[in-house]
Amino acid sequence: MRTLIRGGTVVNATGPVVADVLITDETIGAVTAPGLITVADEEIDATGKYVLPGGIDAHTHMEMPFGGTFSSDTFATGTTAAAWGGTTTIIDFAVQKKGTSLLATMDAWHEKADGHCAIDYGFHMIISDVNDQSLKEMQSCIDQGVNSFKMFMAYLGVFYATDGEILRAMQRATETGALIMMHAENGIAIDELVAQALAAGHTDPVQHGLTRPPELEGEATSRAIQLARVTGAPLYIVHLSARHALEAVAEARDTGQNVFAETCPQYLYLSLEDLAKPGFEGAKYVASPPLCPQDHQPDLWRGLRTNDLSVVSTDHCPFCFKDQKELGKSDFSKIPNGMPGVEHRMDLLHQGVVAGEISLARWVEIASTTPARMFGLYPRKGVIAPGADADVVVYDPNATQTISAETHHMNVDYSAYEGMRITGKVDTVFSRGSKVIADGAFHGREGHGTFLSRELSQYLL
Ligand code: URP
Ligand code: ZN
Ligand code: ZN
Repeated sequence: MRTLIRGGTVVNATGPVVADVLITDETIGAVTAPGLITVADEEIDATGKYVLPGGIDAHTHMEMPFGGTFSSDTFATGTTAAAWGGTTTIIDFAVQKKGTSLLATMDAWHEKADGHCAIDYGFHMIISDVNDQSLKEMQSCIDQGVNSFKMFMAYLGVFYATDGEILRAMQRATETGALIMMHAENGIAIDELVAQALAAGHTDPVQHGLTRPPELEGEATSRAIQLARVTGAPLYIVHLSARHALEAVAEARDTGQNVFAETCPQYLYLSLEDLAKPGFEGAKYVASPPLCPQDHQPDLWRGLRTNDLSVVSTDHCPFCFKDQKELGKSDFSKIPNGMPGVEHRMDLLHQGVVAGEISLARWVEIASTTPARMFGLYPRKGVIAPGADADVVVYDPNATQTISAETHHMNVDYSAYEGMRITGKVDTVFSRGSKVIADGAFHGREGHGTFLSRELSQYLL
């Protein structure tokens, strides 16, 4: 099957060029000057549109157990919603429960995902139980294509790891070539502030933000960086939200340390003011680290331009407002932490292009090419080039749309961006050459997505 995407502006991380793209079965067969190829089974006129490598969302949580409930998207619904928004690969987090092994966790996540995804997918591994067996099993995970391990400096008794445990895991990462991903918040100090707020009768959602001040994200980020320095391990800070943390990352990078960071659209567009919305409305915006005061946003955009922030992922972790977020109606600390977003990352970042915050090429770089390199998928993913998987998005930069829970495809009863006007819209999406989205309809299939066994991070020597 040969599909010719004709006359579009092909945008890679290297920049835009008007070209034709030939899809041959599952891969890109050719990228040529316009008009050179004349024979194909199907043609798509992309004149005036962008032709992008499919988005790679390197941070999602489908069906994630949290706070006595599960995030509301399954691998089927979440990957379908991702495809609607031009994302053709997700990397989700397998979650080790205390007392279980990493390998059993991996099997359990395969059980959840395999045969259900509409787009390709990989896994990171959350280590909640650092012990000799877990540390040993890191190598087996790597052998199975899961070579990035998330640890938490918060959530005592659930995911929390002590500095000593983090140190041990980092030493193992140094030995094996793995990447340590860090949830950097000082959970011990936060738990104290939370207890004090509750004792004072402060139970509203905004307390989630007030008890997790940005300084405590900054402190934990600095500490993680020092532990990484001592052990020689590469470090990737997930969901960075605060200027304080960004400063620590920038300083480490300036010394040449292998420290990388991602931020998320919610930190670029939403703020503590959303958490402070009247009544229980703020619960829709409860995620950790919390939304910061608005004046952090320009710093994050700057970090994206300077590459101190290398990736934008969603941290998609949806909980319905009704019944799930409501678990914390009388106690903000019981609101499940997480926000939906997997469907709108490409669109929201395109607003950054429209507003002049980032270039077209940088949009593609932070949303597709760098995640591919960071997590060992390049050049199979993250680029429009001969031989790459035909994960291709035709994007109309002039179309407009309004984000709403009424029209989104995520399995969650609210949108964090309700009513936001967006310039640009996904037109057509291919996943390994199969049409998934076209003409305003889903043409994909649950189970089309295959598991991606990933190579080690391509940013490390
Ligand atoms: O609040 C969040 N971010 N929930 C998802 C789990 C995590 O820490 O990434
Ligand atoms: Zn986290
Ligand atoms: Zn997360």
